[in-house]
Amino acid sequence: MSFRLERLLGPDDLAEQLRREARDGLTATPKRMRSRWLWDAGGSALYERIMELPDYYLPLAEQAILETRAGDVAASAHPRTVVELGSGSSVKTRILLDALPELERFVAIDVSESALAKAGPRLAARYPHVDVLGVVGDFERHLPGPFAETLVVCLGSTIGALDPQDRAALLAAVAGALGTDGALLLGLDLVKPVERIVAAYDDAEGLSAALIANLLLILNHELAADFRPERFRSEAAWNPELERMEMAVRSLAAQTVTLRRLTSSSSSPRARPSGPRSRRSSGVRASSESSRPPGFASTPGGRTTPATSRYASPGPSRSAGRPRSTRSRRPTRAAAAPGV
Ligand SMILES: C[S@@+](CC[C@H](N)C(=O)[O-])C[C@H]1O[C@@H](n2cnc3c(N)ncnc32)[C@H](O)[C@@H]1O
Repeated sequence: MSFRLERLLGPDDLAEQLRREARDGLTATPKRMRSRWLWDAGGSALYERIMELPDYYLPLAEQAILETRAGDVAASAHPRTVVELGSGSSVKTRILLDALPELERFVAIDVSESALAKAGPRLAARYPHVDVLGVVGDFERHLPGPFAETLVVCLGSTIGALDPQDRAALLAAVAGALGTDGALLLGLDLVKPVERIVAAYDDAEGLSAALIANLLLILNHELAADFRPERFRSEAAWNPELERMEMAVRSLAAQTVTLRRLTSSSSSPRARPSGPRSRRSSGVRASSESSRPPGFASTPGGRTTPATSRYASPGPSRSAGRPRSTRSRRPTRAAAAPGV
């Protein structure tokens, strides 16, 4: 059995990328961040619990499809390598791997190191003949390849959380990396009765809301922001025009948030004078006075084409989450949550 972890995204890259995106996204109107920033160890842990929710039908539906069709996929793709994008726990992927006895290599790429560190050894133990590699990276930036005789897999409507142009860029990159003997397996939700979709993101435990609010925790932790999650409400709502779920955090009142660590550590040390002037000059203040809170939305899946993507505007018309779920659960960071 073999499992290796490769880090393409070190703490410095991560911080630098987040700084850049937060600077652009939180000063834009409406404020927005990529759904990729929902994910860290807390996000992954929340998503594992979300997958167990009875109303969150996606995992079971995808599992049933894989159980029925894994043999067909294996027969038509017969890959030597499987590359999974946004692999998470890779639990459903096992159904596919079980149908690929000749497989030589499995590469899982995810921004969440904790998810890879948990899933990798389990996969290596289950498939001792397969070389298992976990890549800590952003599949929008660190797509491995080019590949030969490879099946790229992306499950759980993960691609639905990308903006249309980002999705197109990713699919083009995958197509380029796959060459002529590769294949792509995409798991995406279809449009269905809205109540069913909304119920999937409106759990009584507030897990989905906590996942959305994880963005605030990540910003607090990584960029020394002072978001107070209890002053925000997580929302997930169906956009009938675009036929997608949209997620956001909405400020409950006008407020100003400061992100103190918004300049690169190489050009400016973290320890700075703490007076308001220096804080302002080194950070960015995100104000929600116009009822446009720092927010984002991602779509966990709306239709066959990746129809969901994060975005924040005045916001969805109703809250899908419970405000209490955005409260602090981890003492050292304001709260916890992953993303869809
Ligand atoms: C909705 S979960 C799906 C997990 C898994 N594919 C499944 O079906 O159970 C999305 C996963 O993609 C990862 N992810 C999101 N954006 C990513 C990005 N840009 N690059 C790499 N991984 C990403 C998250 O960490 C998370 O594990």
